Amino acid sequence: MTEQPAPENPEGDEPIKQRKNGLYPAVSDELAENMKSGWADTEQRDLRPIPQAEQTARRRAELSARFPGERLVIPAGNLRTRSNDTEYAFRASTEYAYLTGDQTQDGVLVLEPTASPDGQKGHDATLYLLPRSSRENGEFWLDGMGELWVGRRNSLAEAERLYGLPCADVRKLAEALAAATGPVRVVRGHDAGIEAALTDKVTAERDEELRVFISEQRLVKDEFEIGELQKAVDSTVRGFEDVVKVLDKAEATSERYIEGTFFLRARVEGNDIGYGSICAAGPHATTLHWVRNDGPVRSGELLLLDAGVETHTLYTADVTRTLPVNGRYTELQRKIYDAVYEAQEAGIAAVKPGAKYSEFHDAAQRVLAEKLVEWGLVEGPVERVLELGLQRRWTLHGTGHMLGMDVHDCAVARRETYVEGVLEPGMVLTVEPGLYFQADDLTVPEEYRGIGVRIEDDILVTEDGNRNLSDALPRTSADVEAWMAALKG
Ligand code: GLY
Ligand code: MN
Ligand code: MN
Repeated sequence: MTEQPAPENPEGDEPIKQRKNGLYPAVSDELAENMKSGWADTEQRDLRPIPQAEQTARRRAELSARFPGERLVIPAGNLRTRSNDTEYAFRASTEYAYLTGDQTQDGVLVLEPTASPDGQKGHDATLYLLPRSSRENGEFWLDGMGELWVGRRNSLAEAERLYGLPCADVRKLAEALAAATGPVRVVRGHDAGIEAALTDKVTAERDEELRVFISEQRLVKDEFEIGELQKAVDSTVRGFEDVVKVLDKAEATSERYIEGTFFLRARVEGNDIGYGSICAAGPHATTLHWVRNDGPVRSGELLLLDAGVETHTLYTADVTRTLPVNGRYTELQRKIYDAVYEAQEAGIAAVKPGAKYSEFHDAAQRVLAEKLVEWGLVEGPVERVLELGLQRRWTLHGTGHMLGMDVHDCAVARRETYVEGVLEPGMVLTVEPGLYFQADDLTVPEEYRGIGVRIEDDILVTEDGNRNLSDALPRTSADVEAWMAALKG
């Protein structure tokens, strides 16, 4: 153990910690010896497997069958520095969490190819994790990642019980991967150390095939996932109710009050928000990714709130409501809102098994184009508008996307399985048409400018149609007003 220079202020409140900068007192041999012992055995021997252990095993089996004879490496990712010695909150990679159920930083799932005597190819899966900190060598209290500082970790034996997988020490993994031979693929973008160890053995193209396969595995959700998505939506509904109850406080402060209110619900009931909440009041509603949330909230204007709670298992909701801040839509706001509602109804009606993925988008866009022509904002006929895509000046974005562990889920699935594919029971997608009139859009009458409306729900494709997971939130303008009145009391 290195002796360190005495700190300038040895009486300070800082706990003793071995650091390179020498700001902390040296550790005497007596103290080092003392810290080794006197600790209770806290091993948990009665842990039950996580509820989705069966599903994660099935997903690994699918992966194994797709890539026989190849070593597959799926990292959770590492902490990322925010500033100096503080880090961003860790969120495990979706691929790793999907295939293991674990969410530990630095974890790596490895599928090692095997061949049985009859030539049947398969894989042995191992979860590589940081084990509990050694007390013997002092790392548990002298190392920055020691459990005394960051909290108790699962022992490898505990992790085996939880995840139903053999577990091993991750600290030797990079070296072992660098020395190993045979074909290998890694999910890129999460763990630079692991990727560096494999750099001579992998190609971008082959690695991408692995990522695409896992993305496509996630297109159809199983019962566990649908239950988690419903939980995410239910918490999100409560978060929207929280926001309505504090709109007067938001008026007295800013959009940040709304962001903070929703965040409280997300952190108390879930893991986090699934994406940056869009708390867009007044003309900010026309900025699609308004996440600065630092503007005023004014009576007479609309609030577009697009937010979703992420569950502890990392499934997120993605819901939008556009609310009149004072509880009543103006005549023009209502006209635009009702048009978006009608488009959303048409979109939702097009969500059913066997329908092309593109159909719900086309159905919603048609309604919006009809309205824009009817209001004289664009010259008809509607067919011409749709053919040339002229409505897109005000509709701006696609009408929805797959939803799951990522808000824009399955993002690297191939076109033929996703945007040019066909809907199947178990898929979950958003239907979220909108109309946005920018504050500086000189092509629309002045009274339209600065109005943005989106309505977004989370829709499960069922055997005979669909189920709106977020239907606990009102959607028609009249129902929104009645709901707000009841919440505000
Ligand atoms: N909240 C992002 C989206 O609606 O797609
Ligand atoms: Mn969305
Ligand atoms: Mn959204």
